[in-house]
Amino acid sequence: MSSKGKQMLAVWGSPNSGKTIASIKLAKELSSKKKNVLLILCDDICPALPTIYKSKEPIEASIGDVLAASNITQEVILKNCVAINGNPYLSLLGYKACENPYFYAEYGKDRAVDFFVLLRHIVDYVVIDCSSILTESVLSTVALEVADNVLRLGRCDLKSISYFMSMLPLLGEQKFKSESHIKVLSNAKPMQDIEEYKNAYGGISHILPHVQDIEEQAASITLFDEIKGKSAKDFDYSIKAIVKEVFGNE
Ligand SMILES: Nc1ncnc2c1ncn2[C@@H]1O[C@H](COP(=O)(O)OP(=O)(O)OP(=O)(O)O)[C@@H](O)[C@H]1O
Ligand SMILES: [Mg+2]
Repeated sequence: MSSKGKQMLAVWGSPNSGKTIASIKLAKELSSKKKNVLLILCDDICPALPTIYKSKEPIEASIGDVLAASNITQEVILKNCVAINGNPYLSLLGYKACENPYFYAEYGKDRAVDFFVLLRHIVDYVVIDCSSILTESVLSTVALEVADNVLRLGRCDLKSISYFMSMLPLLGEQKFKSESHIKVLSNAKPMQDIEEYKNAYGGISHILPHVQDIEEQAASITLFDEIKGKSAKDFDYSIKAIVKEVFGNE
């Protein structure tokens, strides 16, 4: 465990801002330190698992089975984790292909809290790819509350600004510590008015630049591979800087 005792990072932000991609790259960076990392994929409307990982065998494991279990145990969690080929330190836990929100019995906040508490005992680090649709995702909303830090991703566009104007009032309670969110400008392109959006967001801690290679990785389901090129260097630099800020130097 990190010397600062931080283990759990929630990645949240506006729709299509790059939350899943940032979560993958952060989880991969943490796993390169030979620590066990679990990437939780909360989206049950567009399950992320089949879009980010090509498995040789059809994936039968699902986070739905974990949250619907009569008793959430370490065993049921481990049974539903998907191991990444070629990286023994990184596993995924999310909804599988063809599932929808009605597939499993409803679960409440207490169950989501139990789940996250147990995860802290099972792995060294947890990265949580939250849904933007907080009103529909108990898991994502609880993650924002219990994670050690929240990364808040926004793009340089008016839709992102509008999203936060709509959603941030829902996180007004002290328990969400929304003023401590680490704000990131994501998928930022050189022709965009980055300074203007930095101001609009009330300051930004990190920029994740647009990387052509990432777009290609997303299309070819190879996001766990390395990225190349000049903007890739800047992207990797920001990922490392975020890991350092959240988890320290370990
Ligand atoms: N840094 C980046 N460089 C290039 N393309 C990016 C980058 N970040 C995101 N994208 C593009 O944006 C798309 C959306 O990214 P991603 O799926 O990570 O967003 P999201 O916030 O998880 O979306 P959703 O709200 O649907 O869950 C990707 O398919 C990719 O094409
Ligand atoms: Mg996503």
